Amino acid sequence: MIHSKLPNVGTTIFTRMSQLAAETGALNLSQGFPDFAAPAALCEAVGRHITAGHNQYAPMTGLPALREQVAAKVATFYRRQVSSDSEVTITPGATEAIFCAIQAVVQAGDEVIVLDPSYDSYEPSVELAGGRCVHVPLALPGFSIDWQRMHDALSSRTRLIIINSPHNPSGALISRAELDQLAELIRDRDIYLISDEVYEHLVFDGAQHVSVLQHDELYARAFVISSFGKSYHVTGWKTGYVVAPPALSAELRKVHQYVNFCGVTPLQWALADFMAEHPEHLAELPGFYQGKRDLFCDLLAVSRFSFTRAPGTYFQLVDYSAIRPELDDVAMSEWLTREHGVAAIPVSVFYQSPPKDLRLVRFCFAKREETLRQAAEKLCAI
Ligand SMILES: Cc1ncc(COP(=O)(O)O)c(C=O)c1O
Repeated sequence: MIHSKLPNVGTTIFTRMSQLAAETGALNLSQGFPDFAAPAALCEAVGRHITAGHNQYAPMTGLPALREQVAAKVATFYRRQVSSDSEVTITPGATEAIFCAIQAVVQAGDEVIVLDPSYDSYEPSVELAGGRCVHVPLALPGFSIDWQRMHDALSSRTRLIIINSPHNPSGALISRAELDQLAELIRDRDIYLISDEVYEHLVFDGAQHVSVLQHDELYARAFVISSFGKSYHVTGWKTGYVVAPPALSAELRKVHQYVNFCGVTPLQWALADFMAEHPEHLAELPGFYQGKRDLFCDLLAVSRFSFTRAPGTYFQLVDYSAIRPELDDVAMSEWLTREHGVAAIPVSVFYQSPPKDLRLVRFCFAKREETLRQAAEKLCAI
């Protein structure tokens, strides 16, 4: 008998729904990845660097050229000067960054506040560090922070708070005022912060992403994490980064060097070249994804789903109460996939204790126009 360290972890809903989509031939709007090509120049750069012999271990902290690009980007977007040597670390995906940041600061018996619905890797990473997640639900319908509940969740054991903006699955954005409130809440307490900002460039309707990198007081205790996978349409490259003050970066690197040691070398070279040569890519990303969101939402306007357009991310939540209110969201996602040929993700899986009457599923709109049109046609026929 194996005494599991993660007894509650099974196959994730993302794997299950993608498998079901493949089995049934459904359009896969469940798992969050693009079905369109990454920029040609980025892909060509990988081949070029492999041929040029950039195939051995990269430096543990990441390729200097890529760390410099990240530091330059942080200066451009968030007006913070960070040291590419001591504050930027390249990791194999944001997932590894999150894992290492948690292992670096969470000790046995510590509590970590996560805001539900929350990304699925947080809790197992906390448990492996010997910590315990304290789940604080975001306030519906806008998925904003409930400050009274946050306050009530704090204890002398709270060591870390994890926030995520733009937020998966809701698309909600954290405001500057909320960051100020958070700073006030944890001032004079020995609490660290992980700010999961992997969708930082997917913000719509003229809104600006508010990064913890713009907040001096919070940055002093934060790991700010992002993902090249999301920003450059290459989720399969699993390449991300962490920006953190030198002392926190040093602790994170102690873990990272024994989890994976370094990221994939030619991918880092290619990303560094592409970032240097195509700064317009990030500037164009909000418009690019807003076009997809609006196409999908405009088409769904005549459906029986109800929704508010996502302010950020590449996910759109829809309420199906007018269609099959008797089904919970897991059953609804399966029904949509099997009977109507469009795979979705149930929102309840992002909760420890989902609200009883939650009737929301998540669609990913990081898809070609043709895929979105086909999916919307099927969804409008329900
Ligand atoms: C909120 C959030 N954090 C982190 C990740 C992981 O990013 P990566 O693929 O770079 O590991 C994802 C991916 O879906 C995500 O949605």
